Amino acid sequence: MKKIQLVTSVLEYLPDELPCELAKLVEQAKLATQKAYAPYSKFNVGSAILLKNKKIVLGNNQENAAYPSGTCAERTAIFYANSKYPDTPVEAIAIASFTNDDFTNDPITPCGACRQVLCEAEVRFGTPITVVLYGKSKVYVVESVRSLMPLSFEKKSLLKVTE
Ligand code: THU
Repeated sequence: MKKIQLVTSVLEYLPDELPCELAKLVEQAKLATQKAYAPYSKFNVGSAILLKNKKIVLGNNQENAAYPSGTCAERTAIFYANSKYPDTPVEAIAIASFTNDDFTNDPITPCGACRQVLCEAEVRFGTPITVVLYGKSKVYVVESVRSLMPLSFEKKSLLKVTE
């Protein structure tokens, strides 16, 4: 038996320290929270995806009276981006959340299902996606989705052992 250490590092910025391109993406994610459909949780999430062609695609959470039928902001945005620009790699995603009339103080962190879906976009295009998690007090920047999702289940996991 041996113990394997899986190490992840996160860059913590003050909101006004963020590099310009990421700060702009955060602003778009914040705007996207305002169009979320979240009558049940009242927790509005917005995401903004920066593509390699420099287009920005927005998404937000879309809830449903049949609760599991709703979708998170990140998946709304990534599926839309991949459906509209199927050959364009994703460079970055920013996420923000708004509840009780304000943006959350702490950075919002994506759920496991969204990490899995975003991971697929990294594998699919072979390029890391910078993840920017906005909070009023601080912003986390992670260099890839895979670093948020160690031991992820990927396309290669589906190959037979002999292949
Ligand atoms: N939600 C997101 O859209 N993204 C996240 O990263 C976490 C949670 C949504 C799902 C649901 O509509 C609401 O936030 C409360 O969980």
